[in-house]
Amino acid sequence: MDHFELRNGELYAEDVPMARIAEEFGTPVYIYSRATLERHARVFREALASLGKIHLAFAVKSNPNLAVLRVMQREGFGADVVSGGEMARALAAGMPAENIVFSGVGKTRREMLAGLEAGIGQFNIESEEEGVELAQLAEETGHTANCALRVNPDIDAGTHEKISTGKRDNKFGVPIDQAVAMYLRLASLPGLNMRGIAVHIGSQLSDLRPLELAFEKVGALLDQIRHNGGTVTHIDLGGGLGVPYKAGEVMPSPAEYGHMVARVTRGWDVTLMFEPGRVIAGNAGVLLTEVVRVKRNANRDPFVIVDAAMNDLARPALYGAWHDFDAVKPSGNRMTANIVGPICETGDTFAMGREMDAVERGDLAIFRTAGAYGATMASSYNSRGFVAEVMVDGDKVASVADRILPEEIYAAERVPDWLND
Ligand code: LLP
Repeated sequence: MDHFELRNGELYAEDVPMARIAEEFGTPVYIYSRATLERHARVFREALASLGKIHLAFAVKSNPNLAVLRVMQREGFGADVVSGGEMARALAAGMPAENIVFSGVGKTRREMLAGLEAGIGQFNIESEEEGVELAQLAEETGHTANCALRVNPDIDAGTHEKISTGKRDNKFGVPIDQAVAMYLRLASLPGLNMRGIAVHIGSQLSDLRPLELAFEKVGALLDQIRHNGGTVTHIDLGGGLGVPYKAGEVMPSPAEYGHMVARVTRGWDVTLMFEPGRVIAGNAGVLLTEVVRVKRNANRDPFVIVDAAMNDLARPALYGAWHDFDAVKPSGNRMTANIVGPICETGDTFAMGREMDAVERGDLAIFRTAGAYGATMASSYNSRGFVAEVMVDGDKVASVADRILPEEIYAAERVPDWLND
């Protein structure tokens, strides 16, 4: 469910006509709906209401915009971060440090120190080496780091291979069959307060079964650690719930997910932690774009060339991902076309042979479900700068990220003197 709908033949973002947003802010532009973000946050929380003690950490990587984080903070969410930059954003958005969880296989010493000094709630450790380093650093600096050990349950999440994280060959977590001993070794280190287990097997999961299998394995591990004298008070079940990208597509609902979690975790007696990203932000954002021109080649589908490109929305180029494409003022006519951006490589293709609203030069259209892993994955390839982001709230609209021009990016570049001789 979202708040990007047709009213009297034109698309609105909540109560704001998208055409007005294009006029005021230019295109391409990401549009986020506060109402949709809040709705998704509440639906997710309600789905887990029967679970007792829970901690919700929004996966900042899915949409790190400060205004989006602020909405999540107001909804009582903490943050799941994977870099010093994400941690700084979560803090800047007003999230209390103790509600921040720091994941990631490559935390640097500097990032660990920043986390310790800020007093973040939990480090999710992804290797024994990392745990030992963190313990030393914490001891040296007079801190105690609350930690969970992220395990790799060797389960195929059944999603795109580039966003699967729970197979043995993936870089994430420690092998689950070595986790008991490792957990107990780490728990004996001064500087660490080993308190939990974390798991996250992948993203855009369309089936709950792999998650259930992973959680069952975590439950067995919990028993073994406790049986061997270890203490576990927190279990972080990660994120991963898929969202519909195509109109009519059906995904497991947060409620179904909640029931599954309740069933598997019965009797665990821990605080359950969650790191949802896409399920909150995905359908809360669209990318508004203008058709630059329609290129018609005889005997082939036409190319609809839009002013957004793979640098602005990378998912189709990276994962072959589908994003619904709808005209802002649909005429009722349909066409079959290839939707491409202006970038000089064939990978800059949003869709091939797409049955879609007929559009012409100058028409506005949106890519839907662009609120997660959209703007955050942008690059400035082809020196295109970074697109603006706006948020709507009822009939209000505000810039939440200014467009960054190519000139502003190359202002940070230097030509050394010795090239000016
Ligand atoms: N927790 C951890 C440890 C993660 O690695 C991720 C996502 C999440 C939580 C949030 O997962 P979500 O609930 O959003 O599925 N760029 C890709 C997605 C990469 C996801 C990476 N990790 C895409 O555009 O599909």
